[in-house]
Order: sequence, then C-alpha cells, then structure tokens
Amino acid sequence: MTPMIRGNICLNAHPAGCEAMVDSWIARAIASRPAALAAAKDSGKPIPKTVLVIGCSTGYGLASRITAAFSFGAGTVGVSLEREPSDKKSGTPGWYDNRAFDAASAKAGLFSATLDADAFADGTRARVVDLAKERGLRFDQVIYSLASPVRVDPATGVMHRSVLKPIGESFTGRTFDVVSGEMGEVTIQPATDEEVAATVKVMGGEDWELWVKALSEAGLLAPGCVTLAYSYIGPEHTSKIYRAGAIGRAKEHLERTAGALSAYLAPIGGSAMVAVNKAVVTRASAVIPVVALYVAALFKAMKELGLHEDCLDQIARLYRDRLLARGPVPVDAEGRIRMDDWEMRDDVQERTARYFTEATEASLARAVDLAGFKHDFLEAHGFDMPGVDYAADVAFR
Ligand SMILES: NC(=O)c1ccc[n+]([C@@H]2O[C@H](COP(=O)([O-])OP(=O)(O)OC[C@H]3O[C@@H](n4cnc5c(N)ncnc54)[C@H](O)[C@@H]3O)[C@@H](O)[C@H]2O)c1
Repeated sequence: MTPMIRGNICLNAHPAGCEAMVDSWIARAIASRPAALAAAKDSGKPIPKTVLVIGCSTGYGLASRITAAFSFGAGTVGVSLEREPSDKKSGTPGWYDNRAFDAASAKAGLFSATLDADAFADGTRARVVDLAKERGLRFDQVIYSLASPVRVDPATGVMHRSVLKPIGESFTGRTFDVVSGEMGEVTIQPATDEEVAATVKVMGGEDWELWVKALSEAGLLAPGCVTLAYSYIGPEHTSKIYRAGAIGRAKEHLERTAGALSAYLAPIGGSAMVAVNKAVVTRASAVIPVVALYVAALFKAMKELGLHEDCLDQIARLYRDRLLARGPVPVDAEGRIRMDDWEMRDDVQERTARYFTEATEASLARAVDLAGFKHDFLEAHGFDMPGVDYAADVAFR
C-alpha cells in the first residue's frame, strides 16, 4: 500500500504503520519517564493523574496524551473526530492512532477512554461529563489541541469556516509539493472581515471556554486543575499568512481566553495557560503555504545545531522544564509558555532565513530538509515507518 497524496494532503493511512508510529512514541515516552518524574520530585509539584485531551489523535494532542499516560502513568480520556475505515478505504490516521493508544494503555494497565466525536458539539461535552461521572474521574489536566477547518457553533447551529489568509493585503509566497519537490508560488487574497470573524470562531478560545466551564459546572475539575491550549507565533517569513493573518487573530483570542479562564479557575486553585509550540509537520501544518517551506528550512537549521524536536520532544520538555519546573511556571511577558524558544533563537532564525531564501526547485533537497519534512509527513499517516511491510495486504478495519 502506498500513500495517496494530493496537494500536500495525504488521503489514506496505513493501519500497521500508524500503530508502529504510536508504539514508537510510547517507547520514547517511557524512556523519558525517569527525567519526567525527577523533575516532579525536584519541584515537589504533583504529576498528572487524570487528563482529558481534546484533539487527542494526532500531532501535539497525541504527544500530550502519550506523555501524560506513559511518562506519568495518568489515566486519559481523549476526544477526536475521525473517519472510520470501510472494507475498501482506510480510516483517518487518528482512527488507527486512537486504537493503538487504547490497546497500549490497556496492556500497560492504564485507564483510557476515547470518544470519536465532534468536540465542538455540546452533546460531546455531555458524553465526557457522563463518562467521567460514571467512572468517578476528576481531571487535573485538560489539554485543548484542536486544529479544525470548521466548527458548528452549538448556540446558533451556524457552521463557521476558518481560513488561512492574510489581513488587509494579498500575500504571495513560495511553497513546494511534498511528493514531486516542485516549487510554486501562491497568491492569497486577504480575508474579509467575516472570514476573520469565522476563523476566530473556529480556532479561537470560545470552544475551549465552553469545555472548561462545562467540566467545572459538573464538578469534574480537580483542585489545582491546569488547562492548556496550544498556539503558534513564528517568524517574519510566515507572519503575513500566520500570526498577522486570520489564524493569528484566532490565536490572540485563544491567548486572551487563557487569562479569562485562569480567573474563572482561581477559586479551585486552577489555571489556564497557552503554550506556544514550535513549528512541526502535522496534518494541519503541511497544507499552510509558505509554512511548509519555512518548516523544511527550520528543520535543517535546528538539526545542524542539535536543537531539533518533534511533537513528542516538545511536550516532554513542556512538562519537564515548564509545568514541573521549580516555582512558578516560566512564562513570557504575556503569560505564555514559550516552547518555541529554540525555534526563535537568533542563530536558528538566521540560518533558517538563509536556507528559506536560497531554496530553488533545483536545490530544494539540499537547501532545506526536504527528506526530514517528507518523512514526518508520511509518518503522520503511518507510512515510511521502519519494520512495516508496505507490500503486504492491508485490512483497513
Ligand atoms: N503543527 C504545528 O506546527 C503547530 C505549532 C504550534 C502550535 N500548534 C497548535 O497545536 C494544536 C494542534 O495542532 P496539530 O498541528 O497537532 O494538528 P493535528 O491536525 O495533528 O491534530 C488536530 C486534532 O484535532 C482533532 N480534531 C479536529 N477537528 C475536530 C473536531 N471537530 N472534533 C474533535 N476533534 C477534532 C483531530 O482529530 C486531531 O486529533 C493547534 O492548536 C495548533 O495551532 C501546531
């Protein structure tokens, strides 16, 4: 079975490859366990025991769930929206990832429950509330890691679509095709005010707030509960399409929501924080024009400097050096946890800018880390995993 890729979107997923990928992350999380527990012991802070991950199946959400479970021994509840396989068609990678996670948790004697459901729906919140009550769970961490193009507002029934567009003026940037290595230029017209508002509706903090309040009102947040959401800032090259674009407005909203939620959680000694993570290759990030080329240039720079991290490395460090650091969690002037500190270092950015600018179609494979980008992209769909026989027949279910 081979990957079917169109326009940097992979349309299929390899069941055994996804399982191998989840198992490899789990093995790494188990290997980081001594360092993770030592950080907790040193700071005297409690380790997570019961964690809800919204957007649990792939990327940063999966890395968070695996770290909570296999580095700390936490029981986890996960929510993600997947496409089920049929006899002829594979499911989404997340469908297989969730199954592999649940199987590994059961084997390790860890509690896990996974809901394949729309996280934006009130009905899904009600299902998580019922499940937690039935099982007697109270969450000490709630991780919000959704990346979605659409959201139906449960209050109005209106479907909002997020856009990846600049604001104010059009933007032209370079991109590359992950399969052919062909480079092209894309021009994106600016978002309308309605599109910016819709993007904030989908990717801003409104839904995060609904989750935290629903769980709190049901008495399901443990004293001292920490809720985390993930954001991105990035450099000048990607700013017009990302941070200064429609999605950036949504991320600003998410970051402001953290402040409001922290105040809301204060009576139980809880807090809400945003972690600004580094750019990685996930299903969501591979399709953002310019960002893909930037990420491939960044990977080359960070690997050369011995600073490269994937989702799992980032989350391991988030727990070890931030959440479980001695004293207050280290944050920037806006109260955000900066896991992009290495990405944004001057030496990393100087090299990245050089590789990004110098890359041409002819030099792409050398100028940036095309191979590394491609591997991570394929891995996220269960392909290019060592030890998996891709010539063998595949049962999708
Ligand atoms: N990828 C990056 O480079 C990067 C960098 C920094 C921050 N982030 C942030 O991390 C967060 C997660 O992004 P990612 O890159 O890991 O994405 P991803 O595509 O790998 O994961 C998104 C998750 O959301 C789930 N999801 C989407 N719509 C859903 C719905 N309606 N209901 C339930 N689940 C749904 C998916 O099933 C998946 O589990 C986002 O907030 C993103 O902005 C990403």
